[in-house]
Amino acid sequence: MQTNIPNTPDQRWILILDKFLGDFGIELPEFPSVLDIGCGNNATWNYLALVGYLGRKSLGVPRYTGIDISEGAFAKAKEALKGLAHFVSCDARQLERHVEGPFYLIFCQHPPLTISRDGPKVWKAIFEQVAGLLDPQGCMILTSFWLNDHIPAQVSVKKAGLDILHSGKNPFPGRIFDRSEDGEELQYDKYILLARRARS
Ligand SMILES: C[S@@+](CC[C@H](N)C(=O)[O-])C[C@H]1O[C@@H](n2cnc3c(N)ncnc32)[C@H](O)[C@@H]1O
Repeated sequence: MQTNIPNTPDQRWILILDKFLGDFGIELPEFPSVLDIGCGNNATWNYLALVGYLGRKSLGVPRYTGIDISEGAFAKAKEALKGLAHFVSCDARQLERHVEGPFYLIFCQHPPLTISRDGPKVWKAIFEQVAGLLDPQGCMILTSFWLNDHIPAQVSVKKAGLDILHSGKNPFPGRIFDRSEDGEELQYDKYILLARRARS
């Protein structure tokens, strides 16, 4: 049973940012650059969460870029955040051609690792781009609906050369929306992983 978890995604994400950035001593600068990979229309909630989190710390507003391979996937968010956020439609395997780092925070919420056989390879290539775009003081936060996505995501993140700071169940998940054939409940942000650039 979930108790005391706010039911809007932005409020829930403020708790996630507070806990995990706090636990790992990740301090964001004023007006931090934030990249959201495969953002879809959830970009709106993520932007609101960042505004809430940064506002409480007097760090201004995010310089937010949402990326998705499908322009239609973020159309509503782009309209809602007109003049506030920047959106790019591209294959995130070519991120470095489309955006300029460094980014202090990179969101990767629900990357679809199991949607095709190539999923783990595709996302490993994306995480390699992340490794080049992350500020050394920043981190990537990745979440998954279920273990079938989370475990391969974790393997791909590792293979891409990022250091995993944390991987496990998220204490602030969203709603359950489905059940897999083998009985696992699918839930928004059920698992969470934090990674940063490898220290040389
Ligand atoms: C499961 S949806 C998650 C959307 C949003 N992050 C959320 O949590 O609601 C996965 C998203 O990743 C995008 N995507 C898939 N492959 C991609 C790629 N190679 N580059 C950029 N975006 C990609 C899809 O278009 C889709 O919007």
